[in-house]
Amino acid sequence: MADAVVDTVASVPVAVIGAGPAGLMLAHRLARAGVETVVVDTRTRREIETTQRAGILEADAARDLVETGVSDRILRDGHEHEGTELRFGGRAHRVHFKALVGASVWLYPQTDVFIDLADARERDGGTVHFGVKDTEVLDVTTGAPRVRYTAADGTRHEIRARYVVGADGSRSMCRDLVPEDRRVRYGKEYPFAWFGILAEAPPSASELVYAHSEHGFALISRRTETVQRMYFQCSPGESVDAWPDDRVWETLQARVAGEDGFRLNEGPVLDKTVLRFRSFVQEPMRWGSMVLAGDAAHTVPPTGARGLNLALHDVKILAEVLPRALGAAGEAALDDYQPRAMRRVWRAQNFSHWMTGLLHTAPGDSPFDLRRRLGELDNVVATRAGRAYLAEQYTGWPVDSQG
Ligand code: PHB
Repeated sequence: MADAVVDTVASVPVAVIGAGPAGLMLAHRLARAGVETVVVDTRTRREIETTQRAGILEADAARDLVETGVSDRILRDGHEHEGTELRFGGRAHRVHFKALVGASVWLYPQTDVFIDLADARERDGGTVHFGVKDTEVLDVTTGAPRVRYTAADGTRHEIRARYVVGADGSRSMCRDLVPEDRRVRYGKEYPFAWFGILAEAPPSASELVYAHSEHGFALISRRTETVQRMYFQCSPGESVDAWPDDRVWETLQARVAGEDGFRLNEGPVLDKTVLRFRSFVQEPMRWGSMVLAGDAAHTVPPTGARGLNLALHDVKILAEVLPRALGAAGEAALDDYQPRAMRRVWRAQNFSHWMTGLLHTAPGDSPFDLRRRLGELDNVVATRAGRAYLAEQYTGWPVDSQG
């Protein structure tokens, strides 16, 4: 393939693999800094738009979407949440982020973040090729890396760049370009998965509800006034075919039930998916002329809603260092990237892992494990320090925080 004849050759300073929020936000930020990009993705725009992902943005990330001129739709269609609810032992416990740490989060689905970014690229004349095939990234250990791909119409193209950014998600092929003996992969698999649904029903609660019960975890989120997003813990091998709507609702209701009589508003289930998850980090985040960003370098379980926020933090740093690396500072400007990004990544890895363990029941948990977990949950909600810890981690840390 590498030697095949191509139909066109284009030159840009930065080629980006992956048109998810990380890739598109990077392209948007670089354009503002006067750096041109070409972004390619194997998925079609429609595929990305219709793949359900998480929905919580840190306040800083929400503000960045508005202030960098992506869109202010989040201010109209998003919802600012000043807290969240933990349910366990059949009772609700609110954690009031704003009162505890002065911060809030925004409920705004990742699919909407993507739509805003894709529209902004189109509006600003940025180049994004969706639905490409046979993507190859070549010569990353030189100062002249190339990307080759087949466009949706079958024609073959080459992009010559100074840097390539691998923002190609949790199944990244870019990260495999770092030779095996030069990379370290840290990871953890979990003995459970999430069963996610979209349901046509009115909201059941005004904020997110993270529920723990002896039967396992459930999360009540929302998409719109009429479509709700909910999850419950299931086994990783679960098949959606075994879950008619009645069984889904019975399971969800049992996990949120309590002495306050709380019930979910039910309705037709529009979508059912089993989401497997894991914790993962690859280092280094840079190999020659290629850097990794977002899920390609690190993935977290969705419990703390950190994934998208981490990706946006990576590209905020990259949009600062790449223009310097293209200018007088040269490649050395990239040395900063990994240490600045990774500090937050490991803090988020810890938080996501902690919150997952706090709320889920692992197969084989002993009666001791179950009671200890209730003790931990009680410690979190019954002390100001416990609530503040959760609030601080959930709402995110200052950008590139050293504090
Ligand atoms: C979602 O709305 O899909 C969502 C929200 C919070 C999470 C995970 C997923 O922690």
